Amino acid sequence: MAIEQAVITWIHLVASAIWVGGSLFIAMVFAPVLKTMSSSVEDRLQIMIKVGRRFNKVAVPSLVILIATGIFNAHQMLIRPDFLFSTSYGVLLVIKIIFVVGLLAAFGVHVRIIRRDVEQKITAKQLSDSQITKLRTKIIIVGQVTVILSVAILFMAALLDAGI
Ligand code: HEM
Repeated sequence: MAIEQAVITWIHLVASAIWVGGSLFIAMVFAPVLKTMSSSVEDRLQIMIKVGRRFNKVAVPSLVILIATGIFNAHQMLIRPDFLFSTSYGVLLVIKIIFVVGLLAAFGVHVRIIRRDVEQKITAKQLSDSQITKLRTKIIIVGQVTVILSVAILFMAALLDAGI
């Protein structure tokens, strides 16, 4: 049914807006503003972790919804592996799914780096300056990979939509 398809696409788009929009906001607005604050590196890291954890409460369900509605959108293709590899639509879809798997991996690493025990060590100021610097660098790199992959997935969606 057309209306059913429209609702699924709408949910996919809203979840995509929350996930990608929220990630970009953190990377391009929140992180630069936080950097200008005069508080210590530990305090800034803690603020970023708090914001990240709060964002995850909406971001993780959005990602789950994206994958579920994405699979629904693609199920006609996914049950026909011959189409998947013989049409440009199918190949673009496979690339999109590979990017999504990469995104899940990057996000998993991101969450693992900032485990509760690591957060507690930061709060208790048990980490040396060099450990804090290393941790920050890792978080920033994995965070950037997550954002770049998310934007690349949008490009794949645009290619699929254009029927290239
Ligand atoms: C971070 C994850 C994802 C994001 C940000 C995302 C984003 C989008 C956006 C913005 C659209 C455009 C809506 C449209 O024109 O129909 C779209 C369409 C679509 N997405 Fe996703 N998506 C994600 C994950 C997935 C996954 C995991 C799948 C499949 C397993 C998938 C399959 C599709 C399909 C088949 C379309 C329809 C394309 C078309 O023919 O127009 N998406 N996606």
